[in-house]
Amino acid sequence: MEKVILTGDRPTGRLHLGHYVGSLKRRVELQNSGEYDKIFIMIADAQALTDNFDNPDKVRQNIIEVALDYLSVGLDPAKSTLFIQSQISELTELTFYYMNLVTVARVHRNPTVKSEIQMRNFEASIPVGFFCYPISQAADITAFKATVVPVGEDQAPMIELTNESVRRFNSVYDNDLVEPKNLLPDNDACLRHPGTDGKAKMSKSLGNCIYLSDTEEDVKKKIMSMYTDPEHLKVTDPGHIEGNTVFTYLDAFSKDEHFKAYLPEYNNLDELKEHYQRGGLGDVKVKKFLNCVIEEELKPIRERRKEYEKDIKGVYEILEKGSIEARKTASQTLSEVKNAMKINYFEDRDFIEEQAKKYNS
Ligand code: TRP
Repeated sequence: MEKVILTGDRPTGRLHLGHYVGSLKRRVELQNSGEYDKIFIMIADAQALTDNFDNPDKVRQNIIEVALDYLSVGLDPAKSTLFIQSQISELTELTFYYMNLVTVARVHRNPTVKSEIQMRNFEASIPVGFFCYPISQAADITAFKATVVPVGEDQAPMIELTNESVRRFNSVYDNDLVEPKNLLPDNDACLRHPGTDGKAKMSKSLGNCIYLSDTEEDVKKKIMSMYTDPEHLKVTDPGHIEGNTVFTYLDAFSKDEHFKAYLPEYNNLDELKEHYQRGGLGDVKVKKFLNCVIEEELKPIRERRKEYEKDIKGVYEILEKGSIEARKTASQTLSEVKNAMKINYFEDRDFIEEQAKKYNS
């Protein structure tokens, strides 16, 4: 079986460090591993419209932002197909057919949908389109016959629903749609990357993000005012590591080489943690180190972004070409689905012959 990746993001804002450690970085590694036959990276504008239908300009503007973020982290259009969801009408068609396979109760139980309904005050009246987005996500994934979907932890319930839909489709229609596996980060600090304020999630609405496109000065400011340990008041006080955002970020980003380069009095993160817990190590020193570590990651991303920003038309061309390419695959799957569902009347000439005989014998 072909090894295929499909994944994507809603274009509702610039991408940040949470996206990066939760999924983007892994995508680039998988892309460059050469182990995959096809890689599809989708800007999920149709999904973004399910809760931003009244703000089309926001979605439209963020398409280029997300595309620039993708390209600047190292997703390479020569290796990965970057495309825009709404341009693949086959996905919408598939969604409509998959709706028959999923119950309302099943979507209601989806924990990600549940918390989004709460966050958006949709409790009293949920737009049908929003409610159905997990089903459209199943369509996205299966249309490309994805075997692997690298996403953040919040997307795991969507993959689960996809797999249930695939099993149901295959058993009802005697077909062989592909069940995907999700691929979560194995490092806990990447899986649940907190905001700079120590809140569990980095999120635009909480204003606690470090964006991939932030300037060097912005990043420094954000790091220097990051949440640490409220009980660590004097340098001599023993400090806590658990729930200390600066250390969570170091867990996600730092390597032994960084110590050699920027903080040679310590061999590794364990030694730094030990000193902090013992007392006698100030937050500022740790934050300055973290800033160096993060800058090492963000600098090449920022530089690549600058290059692509010089050729915005070229970026749209990448997306247009990618969308044409992606459409070929989705349309192939859609015609298989229609065959399986017996709604391929005009392609199935034998069927018409048989019908003719039936009525004239
Ligand atoms: N739900 C994802 C997000 O919020 C975007 C998305 C849409 C997606 N379809 C997908 C991700 C299919 C992975 C696979 O960012």
